[in-house]
Amino acid sequence: MEGILYFLLAKIILLALASSFVNCYDPSPLQDYCVAVNNSNGVFVNGKFCKDPKLVTTNDFFSSDLRTPGNTSNRLGYSITPAEIPGINTLGISMARIDLAPGGQVPPHIHPRASQILLVIKGKMLVGFVSSQEYNYTLFTKILYPGDVYVFPIGMIQFHANAGKTNAVAITAAGSQNLGFIAVGDAVFGSNPPINSKVLEKAFALDGKIVKYLKKVFSSGDDIVNE
Ligand SMILES: *[C@@H]1O[C@H](CO)[C@@H](O)[C@H](O)[C@H]1NC(C)=O
Ligand SMILES: *[C@@H]1O[C@H](CO)[C@@H](O)[C@H](O)[C@H]1NC(C)=O
Ligand SMILES: *[C@@H]1O[C@H](CO)[C@@H](O)[C@H](O)[C@H]1NC(C)=O
Repeated sequence: MEGILYFLLAKIILLALASSFVNCYDPSPLQDYCVAVNNSNGVFVNGKFCKDPKLVTTNDFFSSDLRTPGNTSNRLGYSITPAEIPGINTLGISMARIDLAPGGQVPPHIHPRASQILLVIKGKMLVGFVSSQEYNYTLFTKILYPGDVYVFPIGMIQFHANAGKTNAVAITAAGSQNLGFIAVGDAVFGSNPPINSKVLEKAFALDGKIVKYLKKVFSSGDDIVNE
């Protein structure tokens, strides 16, 4: 009797763990597709508003957004262009184009909801990510050339920088429809409302003047400093 109880208990714990792992990712779709629509010419599928499946066409699964280079005229010299595809809704994947001007970078950031895989198609990039405290904040970094691929595990601080003299271009794919983006500098020094300066001075061992400067840089919108 006791044996069976323990067995059942173990099973319940295992199931609870398994379901919490599953919940770390986008839920599996319960239909072939659920093409997103804004207007009311659609149907409700599992609580989501989707295009009437009878009206879905091939173009709902297509985007040419990534043909066009993004505008890198900003302080950091980068742009991220997501592929806007109505039919990608509920599929748990997404894709984007990264453009880096010479000297440009996507600054240290976190994708809270998905791992990411990056393919360089032009130029030369220095990429990397840092593991968590548990793994001793280890930096993994690499110079990438066209055709090279690098993977960034979910939730790690990562960066992509142009390491060449020409524009660099990469295509990224992620295991979430909405992987999220937290730029570390913006979140820490540009939050709204701002984090108490004394907290930031102590946390980052910075002088008050520098914290004031950083707050100005990161709260100025679009990462551009107009000085
Ligand atoms: C829905 O509307 C938003 C904002 O107007 C727009 O950016 C988006 O592309 C639209 N989506 C679709 C599937 O039409
Ligand atoms: C690129 O962005 C800058 C800054 O926002 C803007 O002034 C410029 O007109 C944009 N260039 C193009 C080609 O859209
Ligand atoms: C982290 O550092 C500790 C202490 O030096 C070591 O025992 C452990 O193996 C390291 N772990 C990793 C993943 O590097």
